[in-house]
Amino acid sequence: MVQAWYMDSETTDQRLQHHKNPPEYISLDDLFSKTGVEYFKINIDTYKTDGVLEKLKNERGYTYEDEMVCSKECLPNYEEKIKSFYTEHLHTDEEIRFILDGSGYFDVRDGEDQWIRIAVSKGDMLIIPSGIYHRFTLDTNNYIKAKRFFIGEPVWLPYNRPADEMPCRKDYVEKLQSGFSVAA
Ligand SMILES: [Fe+2]
Repeated sequence: MVQAWYMDSETTDQRLQHHKNPPEYISLDDLFSKTGVEYFKINIDTYKTDGVLEKLKNERGYTYEDEMVCSKECLPNYEEKIKSFYTEHLHTDEEIRFILDGSGYFDVRDGEDQWIRIAVSKGDMLIIPSGIYHRFTLDTNNYIKAKRFFIGEPVWLPYNRPADEMPCRKDYVEKLQSGFSVAA
């Protein structure tokens, strides 16, 4: 089940939980209001026929989808690769991930520049807004399988921080200040 919490600042293995002491959890509602990150629970057993994912895709205009697997077996230079995923960056488009199996962490910055860690596993779908600084890591299970969605031709290009002058970043900061509203 999805959980989100504020991270400690320890530089130990990125795959550990990195809870504060004591842990400081954040609700999904607060996660949305503080970052604009949206969460959807998808039934992994029925999603192909129950229409929930289909409706979401139609409403949001996701016309592209594929599947990716990250594991030590699937990724050459695994340790280096997961370090590169962990570099703080943003995108000009939403990052949409629906977890089919395994688990991992998406870390996003809140308005005070604090890291919030979002632990995802099977059945969790996250929509990370364009322009937010974020990063990804596998957890100690070292395995995740996810669907990726995109509006139109996919662009996966990361822009490493600092990217404060990019229009998508400026748009995001504006939304951060005026408040996020629920998408259609
Ligand atoms: Fe990303």
